[in-house]
Amino acid sequence: MERTLIILKPDAVQRRAMGEIISRFEKKGLKVVGMKFKVFPDETLEEHYAEHKEKPFFRDVVGFMTSGPICVLALEGNNAIKVSRMMIGKTKVLEAEPGTIRGDLSMSGQCNLIHGSDSPESAARELDLWFDPNELVEYEMAGEKWLAE
Ligand code: PPS
Repeated sequence: MERTLIILKPDAVQRRAMGEIISRFEKKGLKVVGMKFKVFPDETLEEHYAEHKEKPFFRDVVGFMTSGPICVLALEGNNAIKVSRMMIGKTKVLEAEPGTIRGDLSMSGQCNLIHGSDSPESAARELDLWFDPNELVEYEMAGEKWLAE
């Protein structure tokens, strides 16, 4: 079992797309094990995007991500990191395939709806940043064996 960190960005909230996006993950078989919804401070987003600190878009992405409430999710499942990244689609508008969340729902470089951890190392770092260990919920889901085996 693997866990990954997902953020539904301010545009997903404002476009009332949270339900559709979470529904896609649930239908696929990923399990929500953590969830937070609020406006987060600059410091949290600066740390989240720390690897992009020197990039020209750093202030833009931090400003955008703190411009309104966001929904932070921890998802669990077999190969959760790769599976969720496939479902999210590529970052660049013209590369996001139809059938993916971005390919179906977004046409903007900045307002691309969603962030997902891109590797086991990123997932570990990001889960640690956004959630205390006791905020991640261990529970059994009915029918889990039909998804996990
Ligand atoms: S890079 O340089 O290729 O590593 O960067 P990239 O993967 O394209 O982008 C990293 C994250 O920054 C977001 N981004 C932006 N957000 C808001 N405004 C602007 N101008 C902007 N440029 C890049 C991009 O969506 C990536 O976000 P995440 O959350 O990681 O998908």
